[in-house]
Amino acid sequence: MSKFYITTPIYYVNDEPHLGHAYTTILADTLARYHRLFGEDVFFLTGLDEHGQKVQQAAQRRGIPPQQHCDEMAERFVGLWRRLSVSNDDFLRTTQKRHVKAVQRFLQVLYDRGEIYKAPYEGWYCIPDERFWTEKDLTDGKCPECGRPVVRLSEDNYFFKMGKHQDWLVRHIEEHPDFIMPEARRNEILGFLKKPLGDLCISRPKARLSWGIPLPFDPDYVTYVWVDALTNYISAIGIYEDEVRFCRWWPADLHLIGKDILMTHAVYWPTMLHAAGIEPPLHIFAHGWWLLEEQKMSKSRGKVVQPLELIERYGPDAFRYFLMREMAPGQDSNFGEEALVARYNSDLANDLGNLLSRVVRMIKQCTQGRIPSPGREEPLDRELREETLKAAGKVRGRIEDLRVDLALEEAVEIARRVNRYLERTAPWKLHKEGKGDRVGTVLYFSAEVLRILGDILEPVMPGKAVELKYQLGVSSKGRWEERVLWGVLEPGTTAPGGPPLFPRVRLEERKEEAYITLEEFQRLDIRVGEVTSAGSVQGTRKLLRLEVDLGGEKRQLVAGLAEHYAPEDLVGRKVIVLANLKPARIRGVESQGMLLAADDGKNLALIVPDREVGSGARVR
Ligand code: MSP
Repeated sequence: MSKFYITTPIYYVNDEPHLGHAYTTILADTLARYHRLFGEDVFFLTGLDEHGQKVQQAAQRRGIPPQQHCDEMAERFVGLWRRLSVSNDDFLRTTQKRHVKAVQRFLQVLYDRGEIYKAPYEGWYCIPDERFWTEKDLTDGKCPECGRPVVRLSEDNYFFKMGKHQDWLVRHIEEHPDFIMPEARRNEILGFLKKPLGDLCISRPKARLSWGIPLPFDPDYVTYVWVDALTNYISAIGIYEDEVRFCRWWPADLHLIGKDILMTHAVYWPTMLHAAGIEPPLHIFAHGWWLLEEQKMSKSRGKVVQPLELIERYGPDAFRYFLMREMAPGQDSNFGEEALVARYNSDLANDLGNLLSRVVRMIKQCTQGRIPSPGREEPLDRELREETLKAAGKVRGRIEDLRVDLALEEAVEIARRVNRYLERTAPWKLHKEGKGDRVGTVLYFSAEVLRILGDILEPVMPGKAVELKYQLGVSSKGRWEERVLWGVLEPGTTAPGGPPLFPRVRLEERKEEAYITLEEFQRLDIRVGEVTSAGSVQGTRKLLRLEVDLGGEKRQLVAGLAEHYAPEDLVGRKVIVLANLKPARIRGVESQGMLLAADDGKNLALIVPDREVGSGARVR
């Protein structure tokens, strides 16, 4: 079985997870899930970069120890990945012992091989970026990367002989055209390597930065955060600890990164590995940036998109779909919620979701809710089947080329094709004309294509794909070849259907008034009560008069329950009461609070505590 080792960058914990982090992680997750579906043995690694000055400063600002800060931030990242169904096989944090040990061994190997030397270093230092710059690197005397002021620093440090490996690196890039992708990024690095490559300062004096991994050969120094961070890709798979495991996964098949960290991955990392006698990774792919108003998202500029809000509004699967569909992985994309809503409504609600509802509804009406048997196949049916399977093949090809966006375009086109097929075959008319055989064929073909679509889309929308298939009465599992084939749906099985897969959404105008604050919520006095008596309110059909015990305090309530509950069924039950609602007279009876119930227009259900709890208990 071939293997696929895929990684994301490990994210800094000085920042909350934002859309950019979510994008890389979802892209990696999508690819990992597809490769598992293709039958490969996948190892998907992500994690956190927890050392360095910025983290130390962030913890200082909060007045807590750095490790506590890291632990708290780790929970946020992990929580977000869980919410997004990220299927990583490991989660590496650079403060973990296994990693610290591996970094020290790696540094010791480099040192023992004569790849590291000590020398005075003087240069311009950008504190927030933790990077030294030479005079000619500076832009208008400022940091060329972030534009912030730099300070002059001079100190003894350790250096890695990076320059020594330049010729090897250039040759490697030339001989392996897919080593750095896309091509524009490869050319960028080759262009950069036309100039002599200097050596790399890989230490920081402990006196200036204590939050780091000590150099094994000089405890007065900690290692530069990038040496620490890059090593995660080999520490996680047990380098120097478990040779069998390491050899099973290394070299990594794909380091997925944003273009902001191309230099460190395409120059520092391979040269360090080469110096330590380790093979370079097979592929590095640098995707573009999500921009907000044409600028890279950046916390310092106050321009970030918080994924959680969008996930709450549109659901994790639609959010994943949008990010994967919208960005051509090599290029930048502008983020806009309008675009998300437009894609959601057109691709998901309309093309896919409506199609499913339509097919399931017709199956209910025409074939008693069971998957029909296909009858004689006509040219239109054959065409649909062949084109679907051909398109599925293209989807796979696009994924292998890392073009998830085009793969999804292809997949949605399959749904559109079924919609056209239904318009042309018009099974609702056939049904009226009593052509049951033909109806069965058309509905079988439509449902089977939808099922295939569910399987194809599962790596992008793991939750909704399962729901889609559930509505058709299947739960296909197994590899791509066992799913992307014709005839998996079994005639006669019940297609239970269900609620719309993607209910249409409107771009919410998020006015402040739409929210209530926690304080406002806390003004509500909601309590558990026990119904002690119940009876009708004279002259009404809908109202009941209840007496409720709120833990020693009796209340009389009038509630619109008579059409849904008999009074005798309510006595002795625990209910939930809004106790500080202003009393009101309803049909001459005073109501001193309000009973809480859920109402979907058809059914009304009382809200009740799901286990024993005393009367008077507060709901919060
Ligand atoms: N800790 C380093 C990486 C070390 S890897 C050995 C780091 N961390 S980071 O938190 O700044 O994350 C950078 C990564 O987040 C980018 O490479 C990219 O994957 C993702 N993104 C951050 N902002 C982004 C956008 N605006 N758009 C798309 N992705 C971006 O650098």
